[in-house]
Amino acid sequence: MMKMKHLALMALLVSSSPLMALDYEKDIMPFLSEKCGECHSKEGKAKGGLKLDDPKHFFSRFEKNGVVVPGDWDASYLFVTLFRPADHDDAMPPSGKGERLTPEETRMVQQWIADGAPIEGEKGETGPMPKEGEGGYIPGGDPKSVGDAMAKPLPAVEQDWVNTDGKTMRATLLRVDGGKAVFKMKNGQVFKYAIENLSEESQAKLPK
Ligand code: HEC
Repeated sequence: MMKMKHLALMALLVSSSPLMALDYEKDIMPFLSEKCGECHSKEGKAKGGLKLDDPKHFFSRFEKNGVVVPGDWDASYLFVTLFRPADHDDAMPPSGKGERLTPEETRMVQQWIADGAPIEGEKGETGPMPKEGEGGYIPGGDPKSVGDAMAKPLPAVEQDWVNTDGKTMRATLLRVDGGKAVFKMKNGQVFKYAIENLSEESQAKLPK
């Protein structure tokens, strides 16, 4: 089973070879510095304490709020902010300010995270990219259909979720993945929760 998974991943990496081995400084940082630098840079403002043009600092921030979870793009707050529709509260850049990444750039960030987020000579776990039709898939093609598809798969509805101990938490379901529900809290923190630990009623709310 493990071996199968590994082979599938290898096939994925090989098939996406033009995008292979994306490196933060070389491939990602240039467009993030350009489009996000106004609010997230060494020299200028560092909103939320985040400097995207300083790899050392950025790497040290990965774990805070799950900004980048290597191998896990949908648990990475950075990707979630880019993927959200432009007018969403958690979208980056904030609505009406600055220039959004293109779908291709957003997909590069996603691929970089799936590749283990290589930065500063370090590399974390790798993970799969979404396939066509799955949540998080960013299609090529005309910008309108891309915008629609990006807005659809991750609906942002905050709800109450109850676990088997009867404890309630308020969170947005991002998606269901391998027996785990991926939730986001209001403070931006993203975490995975084993589905079997949710009450029957909450389990029934999950997409089939
Ligand atoms: C006009 C200013 C502005 C621009 C442009 C901007 N941001 Fe932000 N960003 C903020 C503010 C303000 C915060 C902190 C408040 C918040 O989390 O909403 C923030 C927070 C963040 C966070 C969360 C940091 C953390 O540790 O919790 C991430 C990730 C982020 N921005 C990414 C980006 C990216 C990527 C871009 C470019 C595509 C971008 N931002 C462009 C203003 C901006």
